[in-house]
Amino acid sequence: MIELHAVREEIFSTAADAAVFFYAEEQKMEYPGALGAKLKEALRKKQFCGKSEEVFICDGLAAVERVFVVGLGKAAAITLDSLRLAMAVAIRTAKRFHCETVVVKLPEINVSETEVSAALADGVLLAAYEFSGLRKKDETKKYIQDVTFCVTDTSLVRPVLRRASVILEAVWQARDMVNLPANVVNPSYLEKKAQAIAKLNSKITLQTISFAEAKKMGMGGFCGVAQGSDEPAKLLVLEYTGSAKDTIALVGKGVTFDSGGISLKPATNMREMKMDMSGAALVLAVFQILAQLKPKTSVLGIIPAVENLPSGHAYRPGDVLKFLNGRTAEVVSTDAEGRLILADALCLAQDKGAKKIIDFATLTGAVIVALGHTRAGIMSNDQAFANDYLQAALKSGERHWQLPMDEEYFEPLKSDVADSLNNSEDRVAGTIAGGKFLEKFIEKNTSWIHCDIAGTAWMPKAQSYWDKNATGFGIRTVAELLDI
Ligand code: BES
Ligand code: ZN
Ligand code: ZN
Repeated sequence: MIELHAVREEIFSTAADAAVFFYAEEQKMEYPGALGAKLKEALRKKQFCGKSEEVFICDGLAAVERVFVVGLGKAAAITLDSLRLAMAVAIRTAKRFHCETVVVKLPEINVSETEVSAALADGVLLAAYEFSGLRKKDETKKYIQDVTFCVTDTSLVRPVLRRASVILEAVWQARDMVNLPANVVNPSYLEKKAQAIAKLNSKITLQTISFAEAKKMGMGGFCGVAQGSDEPAKLLVLEYTGSAKDTIALVGKGVTFDSGGISLKPATNMREMKMDMSGAALVLAVFQILAQLKPKTSVLGIIPAVENLPSGHAYRPGDVLKFLNGRTAEVVSTDAEGRLILADALCLAQDKGAKKIIDFATLTGAVIVALGHTRAGIMSNDQAFANDYLQAALKSGERHWQLPMDEEYFEPLKSDVADSLNNSEDRVAGTIAGGKFLEKFIEKNTSWIHCDIAGTAWMPKAQSYWDKNATGFGIRTVAELLDI
């Protein structure tokens, strides 16, 4: 993990491989030494204008090797999220120049130093991540190790940097878990991670429900999906007891590999379905944060972890599965497996007394058709709860979009033999159909949000400050929501 520091020093007196400055389009500002003259020249020649994602690179000064001036776009349009992006661009540039140490001059804008520092820290840590877990170690490769912010009040900024470090370290852990292949990350691996997290803090407990126990309890959805694989399925139940009575339940889809089962997926890109446990990774990451930052709110975490494979003992289209609450579903496609394991997990969360539940799941390809890789889709039965969540998401910069939940969207899920189908044959409003299926498992007095992260948990190519592959999307929003 990278170390973040805050100092009260002048930027060029701090030894570093690179110094980062920011520049908004048409900004009038003094830059120290030769930098001012060089920047003016570049602006005059229009080699650099200060547009978002633009970088001007020049020689350093005193203790600093080189300087990156990063564009902020139009001054009036600067947001915390554009600061995250600008900082991420600086870090990508620092990586290109094999820098190990970076110093940062905060932009002079009309936002508090702590807020700016928090956004820049996010930007650093979102962009500095590299997945190298499965390669032979390259001893010659240099990694960014230290990033130092030059600020006026270090005592205010330091706690902000610590919070960001803890949260983003958990984001890195989640990304690692999602990027690792399914022959490493199976349900037992997720259980081991949960055990390690439970060991961090005595306020966290872990209970693992095995396949046999789940079967006895009546979790036919979870067991139906799990039975096709020889990997033992695990239903992980984590509990964090904070000082407040308030409890929120977080449920994360943990399909460690989704082949589609008997309704087999096409071969192209099937390997990416190792990411189908991104919801589980999010819940584990949140518990890692809880262990360290110990907020007031109590949290229940439920992770149904299974592998969805075709085999001689796999479940089939046409099968009817019975869930923990007695409802039944007729399987149309064994590839709509996420909702089947989540249904049992939602029942369990309510049996354990949860009145507020959020589930995170890479549930539908349709959410990518609707919202691309830019926004996650949320659906809810309680607008006030959804608003709280969306407000937290605005702070984190993780973008969401709420989808409607009219009862008509359930029509295509009506079955001749069971309480519902697991999906409709037609491909109409696929994401909402997933939401409507799950909503039937929520009791009247329970507030619930379903967050479909199929598009945002995984980037097929880099976009904004998200690099290619696993993103760790959602973790920072939950941290905001829990007031961490
Ligand atoms: N895990 C997939 C959804 C998915 C698709 C995640 C693309 C990430 C990227 C899910 O289990 C699935 O297969 N959904 C089906 C649902 C359909 C059968 C109703 C889908 O999206 O095609
Ligand atoms: Zn599937
Ligand atoms: Zn899936």
